[in-house]
Amino acid sequence: MDSILVRGNGPLKGQIPIAGAKNACLTLMPATLLSEEPLTLTNAPRLSDIATMTQLLQSLGAEVAGLQQGQVLAMSSHGITNHTADYDIVRKMRASILVLGPLLARDGHAVVSLPGGCAIGARPVDLHQRAMEALGAEIELKDGYLHARAPGGRLRGAVIDFPLVSVGATENALMAATLARGTTVIKNAAREPEIVDLAQCLRAMGAQIDGEGTSTITIQGVDRLHGATHPVVADRIELGTYMLVPAICGGEVECIGGRMELVGAFAEKLDAAGVSVTETERGLKVSRRGDRVRAVDVVTEPFPGFPTDLQAQMMALLCTAEGTSVLEERIFENRFMHAPELTRMGANIEVHGGTATVHGVAKLKGARVMATDLRASVSLILAALAAEGETVVSRVYHLDRGYEKVEEKLRACGAQIERVRA
Ligand code: UD1
Repeated sequence: MDSILVRGNGPLKGQIPIAGAKNACLTLMPATLLSEEPLTLTNAPRLSDIATMTQLLQSLGAEVAGLQQGQVLAMSSHGITNHTADYDIVRKMRASILVLGPLLARDGHAVVSLPGGCAIGARPVDLHQRAMEALGAEIELKDGYLHARAPGGRLRGAVIDFPLVSVGATENALMAATLARGTTVIKNAAREPEIVDLAQCLRAMGAQIDGEGTSTITIQGVDRLHGATHPVVADRIELGTYMLVPAICGGEVECIGGRMELVGAFAEKLDAAGVSVTETERGLKVSRRGDRVRAVDVVTEPFPGFPTDLQAQMMALLCTAEGTSVLEERIFENRFMHAPELTRMGANIEVHGGTATVHGVAKLKGARVMATDLRASVSLILAALAAEGETVVSRVYHLDRGYEKVEEKLRACGAQIERVRA
């Protein structure tokens, strides 16, 4: 297994291009199943999760070709031959559940493996199931698979009122409703930019959607969707991660393609910690105002709140802050696995349930650490950039799921970072 070697070497300066959003791309790709005509995505990120979704769609009979080094995904679903999302693919990536809504809406039946647990918590799919049932689907659990069927072969519009905000369940419901008979109203919908991006793509395919980006989305079902070309929105989590580079190391980084509205709550916390973020013609420029950041408290929430996917990286920063910060994780129950690893680097963190108290230290120290999940892995790299000495981060396959060319992007800013192939 590959590992990443980092030598902390002070302030970093440069420009970092921000890729298309992994999480947007993972829901835009299954949208191809809704139409027999081609769907082309531009600005796609080159990541192993995208390769996994490609494999899943191909297993269903869709054609997916990566053009221009994978930045353009040309997809066509004119011949769907299989309606089963197999356990072997679904267990690798929970986002596989996003084929459920499109398959059901298109052909009236789908079989999708239950994803099982994952490192950051139980992560059930009951809300996806309930949304499909609200649209008239009959669902049975057999041998670890959800067997779903729409009576008469077509879903029907309905009111779907989510008891809690779920990004994935909102996406599944939105895609399914585009081809349902009649009107669907999704209440307590997720408002993430990835939902807005999906709605824009579906609209380009001929769907009738109103209210994306608010907590009520209304969809008027249509008989068919056509082909489209759609650019994937910038990755706000990759953006936030690289915004933390000058925050933790000093220096100045311009994140090309970054936009303030994607990272509002996060940028406010950075400002409170003593980090300036300014909009430029090409993106966002970030620099730390003093020698050290100040402690701030953080609570993760659905968008437009502080994203759970930036909590680990923010913790890395706060490990080096002056004072004590409290981080409360409200989205996933077990998302502090990076804390013991950061502790190996000299951080002072106490975790009690969903709350982590971080007492800032003046300097972190290099160590051997292990990545436990995607965002945890990059938080260790951020900490390593600011640490004294050498850090080896192992199990970096997690990193490759969500960050394209991380070593290259950081090296361009002067970081000493290299991949050690096993
Ligand atoms: C998406 C993102 C992930 C991010 C998360 C929260 C993708 C591919 N992944 O994941 O990076 O961390 O949003 O911003 O876009 N829940 C249920 N039942 C369900 C579904 C979810 O109880 O059927 C719970 C989850 O356990 C969690 C909360 O709802 O506590 C929010 O999860 P959700 O928004 O659904 O996350 P994902 O869509 O899986």
